[in-house]
Amino acid sequence: MAQTRHFRIAAIPGDGVGSEVVDAGRQVLDALASASHGTLGFTWQEFPWGSDFYARTGKMIDDDGPERLREFDALYFGAVGWPTVPDHVSLWGLRLRLCQGFDQWANVRPVHFLPGVTSPLRKADTTELDWVVVRENSEGEYGGFGGRNFSARGRGGEVAVQSAVFTETGCERIIRFAFDLARTRSRRKVSSVTKSNAQQYGMVLWDEVFERVAADYPDVETESVLVDAMSAKFVLRPEELSVVVASNLNADILSDLGSALAGSLGLAASANLNPERRYPSMFEPVHGSAPDIAGRGVCNPIGAVGSAALMLEHFGLDEEAARVQRAIRATCAQGVLTADVGGGASTKDVTSALIDNLAD
Ligand code: NAI
Ligand code: MG
Repeated sequence: MAQTRHFRIAAIPGDGVGSEVVDAGRQVLDALASASHGTLGFTWQEFPWGSDFYARTGKMIDDDGPERLREFDALYFGAVGWPTVPDHVSLWGLRLRLCQGFDQWANVRPVHFLPGVTSPLRKADTTELDWVVVRENSEGEYGGFGGRNFSARGRGGEVAVQSAVFTETGCERIIRFAFDLARTRSRRKVSSVTKSNAQQYGMVLWDEVFERVAADYPDVETESVLVDAMSAKFVLRPEELSVVVASNLNADILSDLGSALAGSLGLAASANLNPERRYPSMFEPVHGSAPDIAGRGVCNPIGAVGSAALMLEHFGLDEEAARVQRAIRATCAQGVLTADVGGGASTKDVTSALIDNLAD
């Protein structure tokens, strides 16, 4: 008898295109479930947190929100941020609160090049490109340490300090995660990215931990590259990349660059993992709320649907995840593309094509 696999997912669409892309991802997963003859099921609960909620309540999330989320198997997130609320309030109030509160310390952001999508890279047509950015997601530049003072000195006299925090434990766990991931890939290589020539404390500690951990993985090729040079390498020699591990800020920037090189920010998927599974992990597209195109039904759902595939992998549903990835490739190859990747299709058109292509 086939085993029933049932998962409870908390959907947090957030702001702007967040609700459009989360809706697309839910439809794709529900289509997978209905084709499974009852062997696979998803129960969704949607939460209204975001900038509208803030306007009504003065909070980005209910006080007991994190506690209520703990019982779910995963969180499926859209994006947060809207011009009516300062970005640092919305980001810290919801997304960073969940990532940090649930110790989702590993943020995995694959860069996939898809058939039918034009990349600005010259080499993309002839070279197999496929790499993954592993982002330290719990500390570093987004640790939130610092403060503002001296405003009493009058206009122009205020001082702000924003410190980055690097712990040996934090560096070691993300670097080991990157090496373990490299062992699952056809090219076993980890590129470590810092700016340790200029940031001589935290990033030198990172470099030292990287060297120490690398010694435990003699079968994995390594390199250490400064972040400015790595940005150039993303453009000029991307075929040399497999797993790229970097601090919170550096990997945030590099993953946007990677997705733009693959064709659009709207394509990029991401998993915020608590690898110990003490807390639910959170899956979300890399992009933000895209206020410039929100509400028009034209945003690209592929980043969110790819994130749903990462969620399936996290549940151990590798076959189903591969089906979703194949549907993404087939849909792009058929030319069913939204405007950001040069097409004329709506979010709905792409979602329907993805669902049709699930059939194989
Ligand atoms: P953004 O990612 O929302 O948009 C950047 C550009 O990419 C825009 O031109 C947008 O139209 C385009 N884009 C983004 N997603 C797309 C999609 N699915 N399909 C087609 N085009 C897409 O970044 P931006 O403009 O810097 O930030 C807007 C808001 O989002 C801000 O409030 C920011 O704080 C927030 N944000 C939230 C994130 C999160 O919740 N994880 C991540 C990044 C930004
Ligand atoms: Mg970002």
